[in-house]
Amino acid sequence: MTKQIHPPAAIGIIGGGQLGMMVVREAQRMGYRSVVWDPDPDCPASRLADETITASFGDREAAGRLASAADVVTYEFENVDPEIVEWLEESKIVFPGSAILRIAQHRRSEKDRLQKRGFPTVTFQAVESRQELRSAIESIGLPVVVKSATAGYDGKGQTVLRTQEEAEALLGRTKEPLTECVVEQFIDLESELSVVAVRGKDGAVTSFPVCENVHRENILHTTTVPTHVAPAIQNKAIEIGRSIVESFNIVGVLCTEMFVTKEGNL
Ligand SMILES: Nc1ncnc2c1ncn2[C@@H]1O[C@H](COP(=O)(O)OP(=O)(O)OP(=O)(O)O)[C@@H](O)[C@H]1O
Ligand SMILES: [Mg+2]
Repeated sequence: MTKQIHPPAAIGIIGGGQLGMMVVREAQRMGYRSVVWDPDPDCPASRLADETITASFGDREAAGRLASAADVVTYEFENVDPEIVEWLEESKIVFPGSAILRIAQHRRSEKDRLQKRGFPTVTFQAVESRQELRSAIESIGLPVVVKSATAGYDGKGQTVLRTQEEAEALLGRTKEPLTECVVEQFIDLESELSVVAVRGKDGAVTSFPVCENVHRENILHTTTVPTHVAPAIQNKAIEIGRSIVESFNIVGVLCTEMFVTKEGNL
């Protein structure tokens, strides 16, 4: 049954970074209260939230406190513990659920699932040993970017290999057992876009205008809305972002990052 959550109900947010802070700000504007859970007592969202829970993201007791303080729970990014989200799901409504979180946390499974459903991804291979790493670099061809399969944000846990010497140096310092990585073709990017799409319990899908992102040293530097990217590319980006939330039956908000190649492909 659909339970409507009206102000002044409390929205619980796992993660109190800038994204969490923007959710809090919007929640306040709409008359909702907010409870933020973050390990850092001075996280950006804590300055605005009605209540802050300071504890590591794996802390069950903190999850219990969030569950009792909030009427509905969400998370600001994918680097939260899926077991905690799954546990919260037993007593609380959590959007998006833990199933899509598990997929989005793992760069191989994320790309595998997207490919299987016909969504475009960069050419990539998952590797679990030095030998697999070597053959993936050879078959994809330089330049490539090697990324840890899990964890990492703002380009952390990524290495770009442009020359054979760089590839040999990485292979030389790679120790077995290798934690799972993905090797991706390094694309000569024209631009980077993201689409925030939202799907309701009733299956209705909506999306925000396309954002154009510029990274500096792998960290998001500026996001521009509206973007001057060609309307046909923007429409395609929106179609992809919306189709992903539909295809995975997501209820909640999902941001899809996309690369635009020099040829105008997404
Ligand atoms: N295959 C690639 N070709 C060209 N540039 C890339 C490639 N992969 C990553 N980059 C650059 O590095 C940035 C960070 O990479 P990516 O978005 O994959 O990782 P992240 O932001 O650390 O993690 P997340 O998976 O959460 O987005 C990209 O925004 C892009 O600028
Ligand atoms: Mg990214």
